[in-house]
Amino acid sequence: MQGIVDIHNHVLPGVDDGAGSVKEAADMCALAVEEGIRTIVATPHYHLGMQAAGNERRDNALQLLEEEIAIRCLNLRIYRGNEIYYSVQAVEDLRAGKARTMGSSQYVLTEFSPEAEYSYIRRGLSHLVQEGYLPIIAHVERYKEVVCEKSRIYELVELGSYLQINVSGVMGMSGRKTKAFCNELLREELVHFVATDAHDLKNRAPRIKKCADFIIKKYGAAYAKRLFIDNPQIMLWDEYL
Ligand SMILES: [Fe+2]
Repeated sequence: MQGIVDIHNHVLPGVDDGAGSVKEAADMCALAVEEGIRTIVATPHYHLGMQAAGNERRDNALQLLEEEIAIRCLNLRIYRGNEIYYSVQAVEDLRAGKARTMGSSQYVLTEFSPEAEYSYIRRGLSHLVQEGYLPIIAHVERYKEVVCEKSRIYELVELGSYLQINVSGVMGMSGRKTKAFCNELLREELVHFVATDAHDLKNRAPRIKKCADFIIKKYGAAYAKRLFIDNPQIMLWDEYL
């Protein structure tokens, strides 16, 4: 599949636990292009407890990477975003422009602790919706108190959340139970986005081709196109899915 949009990717060099250098970042981009990716939303962690890089540092990292992408003639476009670890303060920082939505849209890639209580997750997502944002739950397969009860998935979608799952979850790299959960969501067409959550070239590389082929074969080409191309495009246009 060509023209894939990867909406969750830690490719910006030197700003979080993702790419460590411009070279590594550019190598990740080259691999992403080989995998059929043509657009990446760079989503460095925005986590108050950790030292989140400021916008200026993130923008410098993006500029350096874009220069390298041009030198290598890679057919790849990168948008700005963040993976925002939910807190009340983080929502204020979004409002203030310190934390970033996805490509300047109203969509916000939102993360919680894997151990977070369900009521906290639900409240956090409602808070974002009340503030006028469209929260995308990053790697929804990771939250213990969400995956344990299917009705919670429906509830989170009904309150206005969108679901993103990782390639690693779908393909079984995160364990059999997680794979089964991701595939159950795919079977019911509950998933809105599948992304790489790439951090490097080794263990968490931007590989997506096999997963796209798997989803085409198992769940149909139309749904695969929605997941990898159409939904991310609608998100970047800042329209409703
Ligand atoms: Fe991530």
